Amino acid sequence: MKTEWIKDVQYFEELTSTQDYALSLAEKGAQEGTLVISERQTKGRGRRMNSWISPSGGLWFSLVLRPGKVPFYIPALNLGVGLAVVRGIKKIAGIPVSLRWPNDIYFNEKKLGGILVEMGAKGDFLEFVVIGVGLNTNINPDDFAPAIRERATSVRNEIGNSVDNFSLLEEILSEFEKVYETFKRKGFQPILKDIKENCSLLGRRISVTDGEEKLPIEGQALDIGENGALLVRLDSGAVTRVLSGRVEVMQEKLKVEG
Ligand code: BTN
Repeated sequence: MKTEWIKDVQYFEELTSTQDYALSLAEKGAQEGTLVISERQTKGRGRRMNSWISPSGGLWFSLVLRPGKVPFYIPALNLGVGLAVVRGIKKIAGIPVSLRWPNDIYFNEKKLGGILVEMGAKGDFLEFVVIGVGLNTNINPDDFAPAIRERATSVRNEIGNSVDNFSLLEEILSEFEKVYETFKRKGFQPILKDIKENCSLLGRRISVTDGEEKLPIEGQALDIGENGALLVRLDSGAVTRVLSGRVEVMQEKLKVEG
C-alpha cells in the first residue's frame, strides 16, 4: 500500500458485508486504518437499508477511522470520501466521473458507485467511523437488479475494458489520506472548492427527500455550504439547507429560441 496509515488489511473472497464486518471490528477496538476488502458480498448494503449487489469484479471495501475529537460533520466526510474516489477513478480509469451530493459517484447520468458512512458514538464522543465504498468497476450491467439497470453502470461498461481494482484502491486511499489530513488540520473549508468543482448537481433542478423522509422539496441545487449541507433555492426564492437526503435530478427544460 502507498499509504502508511493503512495498518491492517483484511482480505476476503466472500463476506456478507465488509461494512458489517468492519463495524464489528471497530466495536471490538480495531485501530484506525483497518481496511476490510472482499471480492464479493452476499449481503452488501447501501443507504436506507437498500441492498447493494456486489458480485466479483467490483471494488467493495470498508475502512475504520477514529477521528476522536476532530469536529467534522458526517455530510462533509461523505463529500471528502467522494472527492477521493472521484480523483482515484479519474486517474486510474481515465473517465470524468463526478460526485453527486451527498455520496454517489456518477458517470453519464448513471450511478457508478456509492459511499456509506456510519459511526459509533458514546454520548457526545465519536468513537469510530466506518466508511464503506462500493464501486461497479468490472461488472456486467446484467448483474444489476432489473429495477436499477437503467440508472446504473460500471467502469467496464463505459470504457470497454477492465480496471485494476488494486491500483484503484491504492489511489483512492492515497487521495483520501490527503483529504483526511486536511480535515484534521484545517477543517472542511480547504477542500470545499474542489468538491464543488467535481459536483455535477450544482445549478440543476432537483427534487430532494431529506433524511427524515418528509415530502420532497423541489428547487435548484445552488451551492454546498459549510459542513457539507446542500443549499437549494426553492421556487419561492427562499434558500433552504439540506443535510442528507435522496436527490433526483429533474428533467431539464430545453430553452426554445424564438
Ligand atoms: C449507497 O449508495 O447506498 C452506498 C453503497 C455502499 C456500498 C458499500 S460496498 C462496501 C461496503 N459494504 C457494504 O455492505 N456496503 C458498503
